[in-house]
Amino acid sequence: MEGLPFCAILCRALPGVCLRNKDLLSISDLSSKDITTLIADAMDMKAQRRNKCLDGRALALLFEKPSLRTRVSFDMAMHQLGGHTIYLSPGEVGLGKREAVPDVARMLSRYVDIVAVRTFSHQTLEALARHATVPVINALSDLEHPCQALSDLLTIYERKGRLKEVTLAYVGDGNNVAQSLVLAAALAGMDFRIASPRNYGIQERILRLSRDYARDSGSEILCTEEPRQAVAGADVVYTDVWVSMGQEAEAECKQKAFAGYQVTEELLSLAREDAILMHPLPAHRGQEVTDVVLDSPQSIVFDQAENRMHLQKALLVKMLNGLSPC
Ligand code: CP
Ligand code: NVA
Repeated sequence: MEGLPFCAILCRALPGVCLRNKDLLSISDLSSKDITTLIADAMDMKAQRRNKCLDGRALALLFEKPSLRTRVSFDMAMHQLGGHTIYLSPGEVGLGKREAVPDVARMLSRYVDIVAVRTFSHQTLEALARHATVPVINALSDLEHPCQALSDLLTIYERKGRLKEVTLAYVGDGNNVAQSLVLAAALAGMDFRIASPRNYGIQERILRLSRDYARDSGSEILCTEEPRQAVAGADVVYTDVWVSMGQEAEAECKQKAFAGYQVTEELLSLAREDAILMHPLPAHRGQEVTDVVLDSPQSIVFDQAENRMHLQKALLVKMLNGLSPC
């Protein structure tokens, strides 16, 4: 445990001290201390690799949408920790169709120790968490993608050695990924700028909450319609798809609205010379980002994806209170 912040050591030493809430549906379920602890634990997990402290525990992955990274990283996280995963594919359970959401929550709670859920509607996720007696993790909803944002903070911390006084410029849709990122950045003391077209920004409620967090952590939040203003001098340039899963009907309209928001070599050149390019993947190459930028040495998108597994290992252990020494 050498080298870990005191709060991380304390959380390990005292069984029963875990995250602030039973569930992780939103970044707002976490405190800034929770975030620091998760990053420290994830770095430790990444260095140790084998750590069977979740032996005998089971995770259900209940997904209404497709996934590569989230599914595989959770499955491998659980496997490396000695636990077991059950994957329930889109359509298999028929959430709210074949079976009422509260009944699915009650049933799964009888079989497994924790559930990670990917839903279209955030309300479905909240209903599941309300009725489940085991912890529920948001594995992406229309509102947030907290596991992505937490892993991204880990990746930025690894690259920059700090989060405070780091400026992240997000260019594109104020979607689930952006909404978790702004909350996480504000809690962690990182400056956050977002450039999106009018009517495609972050929800007002999330922005207000982020500004409250930013007041406490000393970070700054800027919303603009001008990508160049957001990117100028930034340490991290971040983008995501313009058309998220479930928004296919809006594709044509969104592609027009986002026409000036592609991350090109020219836009990236306005950031700091040592700036990194991040994207949660999957990318729509040639839309929100060019091939050249995504494949450039500044792009760290695959490290980012790998870190999903390490961060989620830390998260699973914390949420399951798997504090026994390994
Ligand atoms: N970034 C991410 O969540 O990827 P998947 O949709 O493949 O899980
Ligand atoms: N905003 C994207 C993220 C995918 C990881 C989506 O919701 O489809």
